[in-house]
Amino acid sequence: MNRTHMCGEVTINDGVVTLNGWVAKNRRLGGLIFAQLRDRTGIIQLVFDDQSDKVVFELAETLKTEYVIEITGEVRERSNVNAEIKTGTIEVFVTGLKILSEAETTPFYIEENVDTNEALRLKYRYLDLRRPDMQEKIIMRHKVAKFTRDYFDQNGFLEIETPMLIKSTPEGARDYIVPSRVHKGHFYALPQSPQLYKQLLMVSGFDRYMQIVKCFRDEDLRADRQPEFTQIDLEMSFVDIDTVMELNEKYLKLLFGEILGVEVQTPFLRLPYSEAMDRFGSDKPDTRFGMEFVDLSDVLANAEFKVFSGAINAGGSVRAIVAKGFGSQMGRKVLDDLTEYVKTYRAKGMAWIVVEEDDNLRSQITKFLSEDEIAGILAKTEATAGDAILIIADKNEIVYDALGSLRLEVAKRYDLIDKSKYNFLWVTEFPLLEFDEENERYVAKHHPFTSPMDEDIDLLDSAPQDARAKAYDIVLNGSEIGGGSIRIFNSELQSKMFEVLGLSKEEANEKFGFLLEAFKYGVPPHGGMAYGLDRLVMLMTNSESIRDVIAFPKVQTAAELMTDAPGTVDMKQLEELGICVNLPD
Ligand code: AMO
Repeated sequence: MNRTHMCGEVTINDGVVTLNGWVAKNRRLGGLIFAQLRDRTGIIQLVFDDQSDKVVFELAETLKTEYVIEITGEVRERSNVNAEIKTGTIEVFVTGLKILSEAETTPFYIEENVDTNEALRLKYRYLDLRRPDMQEKIIMRHKVAKFTRDYFDQNGFLEIETPMLIKSTPEGARDYIVPSRVHKGHFYALPQSPQLYKQLLMVSGFDRYMQIVKCFRDEDLRADRQPEFTQIDLEMSFVDIDTVMELNEKYLKLLFGEILGVEVQTPFLRLPYSEAMDRFGSDKPDTRFGMEFVDLSDVLANAEFKVFSGAINAGGSVRAIVAKGFGSQMGRKVLDDLTEYVKTYRAKGMAWIVVEEDDNLRSQITKFLSEDEIAGILAKTEATAGDAILIIADKNEIVYDALGSLRLEVAKRYDLIDKSKYNFLWVTEFPLLEFDEENERYVAKHHPFTSPMDEDIDLLDSAPQDARAKAYDIVLNGSEIGGGSIRIFNSELQSKMFEVLGLSKEEANEKFGFLLEAFKYGVPPHGGMAYGLDRLVMLMTNSESIRDVIAFPKVQTAAELMTDAPGTVDMKQLEELGICVNLPD
C-alpha cells in the first residue's frame, strides 16, 4: 500500500487510510495499545486491539518511540477528545502494521519546547528539526520565500542568479576567501551580497531583478547574525525612493496579511536618521513603546555640576528618559544595576531623579543642581509623582548608544512592550559617510555607490560629514530587517565620491574598474534594497534566535556542531592549492 493521507490531514470521512510516520508515544492499557503517529503535518492517535488481530497486536507491542512505521486502518470517532491537536476528535483503528525502521533512544525527547541545551540540539539537528515547533518555523520560512518570489514575479521582477565565487565586494565586513587551484596564490571571495552584479544587471536592461540568495560575512556573531545568511535581494531601474518604498510596503502588507493574518498599516512612518537618533538614540528604533529621549542640554549648559555642563561644552549633550510610574520600583539596587548596565555602553555613569509619591525628590545629583535647573528638568521631562528620570551626559555618540540601550532594558524589565504589535518604519536620510578614526579617513556608511541626496551634493566639497544619502533601512520592532539605496549612476559624481573616500583613480579602477567601465555604456538610474530573510522569519515566528529559523545554523564560534565544520584538510589538497599553513604553536 502507498500512503493515502498525511497524519495531520486525516478527517472522520476518510474511511480506511494508510499512513506513514514516526511513533511519538505509545502506551498499553489492558488489551489496547494507544500510539501516536507523527509526520510534518501533525499527530494522530492509533489504536491496536488484541481482540482484533493477534499478529498486528504483537508487532505493536514491540513499537518504541521514533520507530518509522506504516499503518492501515479505519478512521473513527475518539471517545476522549484531545482539543490540543487538529485530529483530536478521531483515531485510526489499526488493522495493518509494518515497521519500516527501528530507532534507538534519542538524546532528547522529540516534542514541543523541549528543554535541552542548544549545543545538544544542534549536534543532533536532524532530530531537533523533527520537533513540531521547529518544523513549523521551517515551513513558515518556505512560505515566506514562496510568497516573496510570487509577489516580485507579479510585479515584473526576474530572479537571476549571481556568482558565489567572486572578487571581494565592498560591504564592510571581512570576506570568506576561497583559494584558487588554477591560479595559485589567488583567491575568490564568497559574496557579502550580490551588490555589484545586480547593478550590472540593470546596465544589461533587466529592469527589475530579485534573488533569494546566500551571503557570507566573516563578522562577530550575535543573536540576529549568522556568517552565512540569506537575503531577499532587489534592484530596480528608473525608480526613485518613493517607488522602492511603496512597492516594499505593499509586499510587507500582503506578506504579513497572508502568512500571519496581521493587518499592517501603510504607508510606514519615515523617520530621518537624525530624528531617530534624537528621539530614540538608535537607527533602528523600537516604537512599540514610548520613553523617548528628552534633551536637557539647554537647561543644564551652565550648571555648576561639571558632569553635565562639561559634557555639553565639549560638544556632547545631557539627555534623559522617563520611566513613567516605575519610580517606586526603582530602589537603590535597581538603579545601581542600571548604572552598571549603561557602563557596558561606555557611559561613565547614570544620574537619576525619582519623583516620590509625595512629590519629594530622591536623587544622587539634586544637591549639585540649582532650583531652576531642577525645575527645568522636571518641566522638560514632564515627570510627575511616581516617575523616575534617568539621565546620561556624554559625547552624543555615547549618550545615544547608552541611553538607547537603557530605554530597551527598562522596557524589557517592566514589560512595556506590546508583543502583538508589528511596528514597521523606514529610517531615511542616513549620513553618506562615516569617519574611520583608526585609518583617519571617510568610509561609505552604506557602500560607495550610494547616491548623496541631491541637495547635499555640494557638501561633498565643503562638509562631507554633513552629506546625507539616498539610503533607507526598514525596521520592524527595533530590528533592521532590510536596507538599500538609490545608486550613483553619473560617473563624475562617482569619481567625486571616490575622491572623498580617499581612493585614487588607480585604486578605484583596480577595485571597481569593471563597474565604472560598464557605466560608460548606458546605465539607467537605479536603486534597490535587500532584506535579511532569516531576520524577517525570525520576527514572524517570534523566535529568540536567528538559529531557530535556519535548518543547519552555525554557533557563536562560526562552527557547525553537527558536522564539526570548519575542519582541517589533507596536506595533498593544500599542496595543490599552493597553500602552506603556518599556525602559532
Ligand atoms: P545590508 O548590508 O544592509 O545591505 O544587508 C541587508 C540586510 O541583510 C541582513 N543581514 C544579515 N542577516 C543575518 N546575518 C548577518 N550577518 C547579516 N548581515 C546583514 C540585515 C540587513 O538589513 N547590498 C546591500 C543592499 C542594497 O543596498 O541593496 C546590503 O547587503 O537584515
